Amino acid sequence: MTPLSYFPYRNGTLHAEAVPLPKLALEFGTPSFVYSRNALREAWATYRHAAGDRDVLVCYGMKANSNLAILNEFKELGAGFDIVSGGELARVLAVGADPAQVVFSGVGKQVWEMQAALRAGVKCFNVESEAELDRLAAVARDLGLPARASVRVNPDVDAQTHPYISTGLKENKFGIPIDRAEAVYRRAASLKGCIEVVGVDCHIGSQISEVDPYLGALDKLLALIARLGSQGIELRHLDLGGGLGIRYKDEQPLAPRALLERVFERLDASGLGHLQVVLEPGRSLVGNAGILLTRVQYLKHNDARNFAIVDAAMNDLLRPTLYGAWHDVVAVAPPPPDAVRANVYDIVGPVCESGDWLARDRRLAVRQDDLLAILSAGAYGFSMASQYNTRARAAEIMVDASAYRVVRPRETIESLFSGESTWAP
Ligand code: LLP
Repeated sequence: MTPLSYFPYRNGTLHAEAVPLPKLALEFGTPSFVYSRNALREAWATYRHAAGDRDVLVCYGMKANSNLAILNEFKELGAGFDIVSGGELARVLAVGADPAQVVFSGVGKQVWEMQAALRAGVKCFNVESEAELDRLAAVARDLGLPARASVRVNPDVDAQTHPYISTGLKENKFGIPIDRAEAVYRRAASLKGCIEVVGVDCHIGSQISEVDPYLGALDKLLALIARLGSQGIELRHLDLGGGLGIRYKDEQPLAPRALLERVFERLDASGLGHLQVVLEPGRSLVGNAGILLTRVQYLKHNDARNFAIVDAAMNDLLRPTLYGAWHDVVAVAPPPPDAVRANVYDIVGPVCESGDWLARDRRLAVRQDDLLAILSAGAYGFSMASQYNTRARAAEIMVDASAYRVVRPRETIESLFSGESTWAP
């Protein structure tokens, strides 16, 4: 899937599926996130086809985009969910997802979050430290509800991606070092009645395009599983996390099939073909299913740069300034070539920070009041949005062919401070 697959130009105007984006901008304003429902379905199908008839549970890494409409779509398609907080648990329960298909990751699980997940009956806690294992055992004992658990192993492999989104190296806070894992499993297995050991888990990073880092991690996990087996600790599933990249520009993303074929081969070769494979993809399920629609407020030129100041900002899409991430920016209705001279622009927002930029050095023919689309904004766009500068978070709109629906209205300004009060009685 490319950034434009579900956002085609028709008669010179960018559409979301069959809906012209200017129509959505007029009806709902800008900035708005626009999602393509059929892009979600296609991304999901890529995983399903790759799994074939093997036992693969795809748990959507919902931190990428946790709008209920997106969760509900994946639930209907048969997805499980990877959650990292009590808040995310509440969201998956709100759409009626089956908790038996929910895995709970994260390094800082609090007591209330463990209690809620145990009561809900999640499939598995991905335990990230020995202290967490002890806490989980205590909470499970108090509730009289045994906790199914995997150890999240840090396999110390380089995912060859941006340092901020690389998680499988020794220096990262995530997981339990692979050389400690065996001891932790022995301890977990001894906590009978409180902890039931069911799997092993790792997640090495995000926006990964090579298969080798996964296979490097897998080999280490397989060796660990064999050592555990010889000590009578049998596992039921192997969770390889998420991390498959998407195309923002010209990347050649790793296809689920290319990964899973190699995984199945190695599992079969190790006599572990019976293990369920769990994946936790986020970005690759939603990234290219969304754009951020924004309107140019002003063009501004100084000696050094040209700026297109738009109504979206770093609070709507944090990735460019946080990671130096590149998102394509296109004109929704490009003017005729002789009408406007193209210039090289920095696309910036109204927030009072020099870091408030969405794209740099882009050649665009653009006028004041034109609409722009910032592509590949379906993952880690709205979910990382804030209200900095007391800016209401953007509307979210979902399109299905020629139908569309607001799946989260633009926030009202009053709602941004409605819970606050002055000191006065
Ligand atoms: N599982 C775990 C335990 C994770 O930590 C993550 C992402 C995922 C699954 C999903 O990974 P994905 O398939 O989306 O790569 N905000 C950053 C990405 C942070 C990823 C954090 N963990 C960005 O905008 O690039």
